[in-house]
Amino acid sequence: MCGIIGYTGNKNALPILIDGLEKLEYRGYDSAGVAVVSGGKIRFKKRKGRIDVLKDSVRSDNLTGTCGIGHTRWATHGEPSDQNSHPHLSLDQRIALVHNGIIENYAKLKDQLKRLGHRFLSDTDTEVLVHLIDHHYSGDMIAAVNQALLEAEGSYAICVLDQNSPDRIICAKKDSPLIIGEGNGEMFIASDIPALLPYTRKVYFLEDGETAIVEKSGAQIFDRYGKRIFRKAYTVDWDISAAEKAGYPHFMLKEIHEGAPALKRTIFPRLKSGRIVFPDLDIKELLCSAQKIFIIACGTAYHAGLTAKYTWEREFKIPIEVDLASEFRYRDPYLSKNTLVILLSQSGETADTLASLRHAKAAGAKTLAITNVVGSSLARLADNVIFTLAGPEISVAASKSYLTQVICLALMLISSSFTGQKLTDAVNFLTALPDLAQLVIKEQDQIKKLAHLYHSKKDIYFIGRGIDHAIALEGALKLKELSYIHADAYAAGELKHGPIALIEDSSLVIALATYPQLFDKIAGNIMETRTRGAKTWVITTKSGYKRFADMSDHITVIEDAPDWAIPILAVIPMQYFAYYACIERGFDVDKPRNLAKSVTVE
Ligand code: M6R
Repeated sequence: MCGIIGYTGNKNALPILIDGLEKLEYRGYDSAGVAVVSGGKIRFKKRKGRIDVLKDSVRSDNLTGTCGIGHTRWATHGEPSDQNSHPHLSLDQRIALVHNGIIENYAKLKDQLKRLGHRFLSDTDTEVLVHLIDHHYSGDMIAAVNQALLEAEGSYAICVLDQNSPDRIICAKKDSPLIIGEGNGEMFIASDIPALLPYTRKVYFLEDGETAIVEKSGAQIFDRYGKRIFRKAYTVDWDISAAEKAGYPHFMLKEIHEGAPALKRTIFPRLKSGRIVFPDLDIKELLCSAQKIFIIACGTAYHAGLTAKYTWEREFKIPIEVDLASEFRYRDPYLSKNTLVILLSQSGETADTLASLRHAKAAGAKTLAITNVVGSSLARLADNVIFTLAGPEISVAASKSYLTQVICLALMLISSSFTGQKLTDAVNFLTALPDLAQLVIKEQDQIKKLAHLYHSKKDIYFIGRGIDHAIALEGALKLKELSYIHADAYAAGELKHGPIALIEDSSLVIALATYPQLFDKIAGNIMETRTRGAKTWVITTKSGYKRFADMSDHITVIEDAPDWAIPILAVIPMQYFAYYACIERGFDVDKPRNLAKSVTVE
């Protein structure tokens, strides 16, 4: 979704702003803009389209200045256009503002402001904010910003530039992320960490309701009542190379290749003397004292959560419900102090997941966040937190984060309920797992050929039973988001209840068949599709090879593994398939259409 960057210091702001915007590209956007204070005036440029378009248009202009703000916009209110791009300015062009989020009562505010003589140039909700600030300004910009934010309903992260304070940026946030980075005699503001990595590791996370005055000498943070807050800096330990392509053509390919090291980072620090330990967290007490557990997430994280339903319910013997965050928050589920709500999110900033966290907390449930981003809103707001240590994931399509989410859920299970030989076996398997994943990662050539063979299909169907259905859902999501091929995943037993009507000569059916107890059942389903003319690609384990070899046009074999680990090995071929299908069809892997990495609005 939208990305924000800000700089104040002694250097020329423009290259830093453009570089920051490029680092934020992965969040998804359709237009971009910058504003700097130059010669006592605000000068700005904003353009529909890629950052390269903006770059071309600023090249001819001399936008020099040592303080500025930039923005990548993902359209919500008002189509992508130059006019609707940020920054938005007061009519006298004295104040410029960039915004991430949605001002829900913008229509009402716009009417009021129009009656007061304000004239609007865009269709956005954001423009209302800058006019509101202008309206309240009577010499004290921070007071004007605070007053405007009091009247605005919705979510926001904003940066405000005022030509009368040429070295200063005022920023504020509610329900959208904003980070302040401290350099040497220079300060930065960004929506997320990767944009700051080339400049500083020292960051301050702004909390909801807070406002900050950022000047090159430092930042002053204030709470919603205007009281100064002294916040400790956090030192980011992500390596800058982790946020670069490092010779790979796309972040997605790099991140698939980073799957094995990401697993090592997530597993090994938690292995202690043949046991699994989460420092500072009594995970057994948390899981075993719950009478009901919800796992709440969106997209790929939801699919990772689904895998736990199959393994946890069997062990814990309590109901485990996995729900989409966008559904959970509105369906008024029964929650009590004996309910544990687990929020799963790579970014830790997904609006629906965050809203679900707030909902669960308000209902008195215990909460646990599993996220990849230290300092993210989810990590800061949940009662407990476990970090997946995947490293930055830049590609919009999630890959290594899925692996680390699945393994975190498995580690929690093993740590809380496995004992004796079962525990020893699990720990031994965990130790070997990154290398087993690496073996699958190395086998990309076969999948590349399959993508070449099938990339022009209009529809592709994924089937599986039990945990394989959960994995199939992720395969279908990956394929549709990257290649735009229509893909659906079905519980294989459901085929005869409707979906099999879709199967025709040469349909491609991708069957997940990794669960030995259900080999016969899925074999029957595969045959049902073959007899109707389908081509079948079966992803199975070594012990399934014989069973499925004769009923597959293509077969991919992964190592035998316990069900809590199988999604990790089985998903990799499907990630490659989506990646190569996207390349074959000539689309941009890292910037799939209409999508954003971090969905920070509802
Ligand atoms: O940051 P989150 O894990 O909360 O994001 C959830 C989904 O938006 C995300 O997994 C999305 O489905 C991915 N683009 C899938 O590849």
